[in-house]
Amino acid sequence: MHMVSAADALQEILISESELRTRVTELGEEIRRGYEGLDGRLLVVGMLKGSFIFLADLVRAIDLHCEIDFMAASSYGNSTESSGQIRVTRDIKGIEGQHVLIVEDIVDSGYTMDYILRLLRSRNPASVKLVSLLDKPSRRRVPVQIDYCGFEIEDKFVVGYGLDFAGMYRNLPFIGVLKPECYR
Ligand code: PRP
Repeated sequence: MHMVSAADALQEILISESELRTRVTELGEEIRRGYEGLDGRLLVVGMLKGSFIFLADLVRAIDLHCEIDFMAASSYGNSTESSGQIRVTRDIKGIEGQHVLIVEDIVDSGYTMDYILRLLRSRNPASVKLVSLLDKPSRRRVPVQIDYCGFEIEDKFVVGYGLDFAGMYRNLPFIGVLKPECYR
């Protein structure tokens, strides 16, 4: 079987490893300042699977007492177009009275975060905020407030640093743009 190397599938590197490192460090500091005077700990909730690398780097840049948990959601629809019908496939424990920071890799249509933010806010937490590494505002179908955003990007198919195409490329250490012929 012929193996296609990751580099062959990429059109360009959009965000390099060092750019990611710098921005993630800045985000960690922005988040620490945003929770100045926090009484107790911050519950950091990563959205599986895409956020796992971002979360791992980000929490090491947040100088606060943190607890870490994970949620997963899936949408009915194909791989590139979210349908707006979201289903939680892994949930967290009760969050009443807690300060919750959701960690996402990307906000695209906004359907996932619109649903998750509403769901978590209905559970009487002290606060719920959102940090997303990437934001594709041109694709938005429902408005979502991103409290901390890493990079605003154009509508290109991005992979790497946790983001996949058909389950692959999550392990690339940078954010790359997939060649259109790979998914068309
Ligand atoms: C991606 C991403 C967000 C969501 C964003 O998850 O991680 O959760 O899509 O899209 P939306 O704004 O249009 O709702 P995906 O379903 O690909 O799962 P994954 O995180 O396991 O890769």
